[in-house]
Amino acid sequence: MVKKQLIAGNWKMNGSLAANQALLDAVRAGPGSPRCAVAVCVPAPYLAQASEMLSGSAISWGAQDVSAHDAGAYTGEVSAAMLKDFGVRYAIVGHSERRRDHGETDDLVAAKAKCALELGITPIVCVGETLAERDAGQTQAVVMRQLAAVIAANGPRVGDIVVAYEPVWAIGTGKTATPGQAQQVHAVLRAQLSVASDRAAQIAIVYGGSMNAGNAAELLAQPDIDGGLIGGASLSAPDFLKIIAAAL
Ligand code: 13P
Repeated sequence: MVKKQLIAGNWKMNGSLAANQALLDAVRAGPGSPRCAVAVCVPAPYLAQASEMLSGSAISWGAQDVSAHDAGAYTGEVSAAMLKDFGVRYAIVGHSERRRDHGETDDLVAAKAKCALELGITPIVCVGETLAERDAGQTQAVVMRQLAAVIAANGPRVGDIVVAYEPVWAIGTGKTATPGQAQQVHAVLRAQLSVASDRAAQIAIVYGGSMNAGNAAELLAQPDIDGGLIGGASLSAPDFLKIIAAAL
């Protein structure tokens, strides 16, 4: 099986019914039959709109988070079963903005990945170091610690996850990891996955952090970079379509 790359947009907390309609219309009209898998991860209130607009197209839709609980007194949370009701294919878990702003720990992120997997939703597990951690030579230790929690909680089922390497210092800063820097970390993550799963070669390890129409091709050409998780550039249909066109 030849692995397809994955280009996924993370809209973060952006959008409106009207703006989403224009953006999704343009994205849907764009790629025809893309070589890669394509997805947009939208704010939860817009999952119904994404489902309505993208059903039957080549584009999947996803959520930006999922609860680690099945149901009950968890005000504000959205369960994997609820996401499933809206045809969600992917759920981002452990984005650095949630680790930073909501105190999400490695164990909580692992539990969220487990809930998604149990419902047949592919978790896009984000890992990545801060600038201080990179400067202190801790990049490898940090990303391996973050991924180890997910492996420990999910065992061989990690064969069904997507990993997103998102160096925190590259997110929304316009500073991208060089293709060499990113490839090095992706190779470390691949080696770690191969101990847990005999399907490690097929696991998509995507890069995120200021990926754009200008730098995507070079990043996507690296042997262990299997796609991108795109923030800002996914809010512009022309830019997002250029990144999709650059995928292998
Ligand atoms: P930017 O592409 O805006 O840097 O965001 C990356 C990201 O956090 C995707 O999840």
